[in-house]
Amino acid sequence: MPEVEEKSRFDGIELHALATALPTPFHAYSANAIRQRISGLQQALQGLDATICFAVKANSSLAILQLMAESGVGADIVSAGELNRSLRAGIPADRIVFSGVGKTEAEMAEALDAGVGRFNVESFDEFETLQRVANAHKVIARAAVRINPDVDARTHQKISTGKSDNKFGVSIDEARRWFSGSKAFPNVRLDGLHVHIGSQILDLEPFRQALARVARFWHELAEAGHEIASIDVGGGLGVVYRAGHDRAIDPVEYVRTIREALTGFEGRILLEPGRYLVAEAGLLLTRVIRTKRGESRNFLIVDAAMNDLMRPSLYDAWHDIQLIGATAAEGERPATTYDVVGPVCETGDTFAVGRELPECRAGDLLAIRCTGAYGASMSSTYNSRPLAAEVLVDEGRYSVIRRRQSFEEMIMGEQAATSWRNV
Ligand code: LLP
Repeated sequence: MPEVEEKSRFDGIELHALATALPTPFHAYSANAIRQRISGLQQALQGLDATICFAVKANSSLAILQLMAESGVGADIVSAGELNRSLRAGIPADRIVFSGVGKTEAEMAEALDAGVGRFNVESFDEFETLQRVANAHKVIARAAVRINPDVDARTHQKISTGKSDNKFGVSIDEARRWFSGSKAFPNVRLDGLHVHIGSQILDLEPFRQALARVARFWHELAEAGHEIASIDVGGGLGVVYRAGHDRAIDPVEYVRTIREALTGFEGRILLEPGRYLVAEAGLLLTRVIRTKRGESRNFLIVDAAMNDLMRPSLYDAWHDIQLIGATAAEGERPATTYDVVGPVCETGDTFAVGRELPECRAGDLLAIRCTGAYGASMSSTYNSRPLAAEVLVDEGRYSVIRRRQSFEEMIMGEQAATSWRNV
């Protein structure tokens, strides 16, 4: 099949036709690609007592969470909002783990009422607060301590979480004190370990190092008579943002690393992948508004912007960009180098710098690839641009899973300052 044709098809649908049916920009996700990722990982985990808890922050769309629920996948949440989304999508509470350094008392109470499976506790203050809230609710919270293993994940600094100077987790020394003093916390059953060292990791070595430290600690705790019922190995598995450049980790290799590190562990292994399950299944469709020849650069101005996809502005992230459906004419279009930019009034509103593409004109359709994770979920209405639509594609059919926000929806809740009060 010619490459152009391949690029233009997406889970049995013509992207050109989809972009005729719906105004750009919009996010599209392939249901099949997500299911394949889930089942590939589930197969690699066969024989282990393991539960995949999808990191909801990667893509919190209800329809995507429903797909997770249908495949038996649980959720890793970091807020009451993510808790409610997960429950609404049908993910059972006992398959939900609650992570994050800033859980409030109200959020803890809500999660306890819902019956979430486990709290991943990140500080001593949080441990004490959880004890207090659980006691007030007359329940026993199950908890894991999040270990900060002080390992370099060799990823972007802003998405690295496992170094001792990051805000996440506690040292093994501190965790050891929690276990020895756990009798003072009768409403918290501390019987789990958790580790998450960062995101977009394309190298097994950091996982190996972190798991080795956690495993050593688990052995030590077991010898001291502490029951460890679960080890949560976090997320972080990277994806291919740049075809022909990034090298993905094979899920079987990744799981082998877990198997080797946790040999003999008889409790439950939890995994919290986010990006790996959804990133490559998504793309952002956008049209060229106009081209502009600057003094020293060619600009391709498209109708998507940093508010629809923050990653390039925030992390200088690379996303492959393809011209869709230029078909036979593509051969006649000379390669041109563009800075691909959006309409937002910031220089950082740039999807790519000096990117080679076939010469483009107004109205051309482009796909920004690998946007299924941390795309829509990180979007905003900056510059008063409505949130883009999201579409799920499944074997030649599509379903709008979030319609584009209307102007009225965008300003919902705002009001003129007419009623003033004193505190
Ligand atoms: N578990 C915990 C405790 C996490 O903090 C995260 C991500 C995950 C799991 C899922 O990680 P994943 O498998 O998706 O790598 N916005 C950034 C990524 C931030 C990740 C934050 N935590 C980006 O677009 O690259």
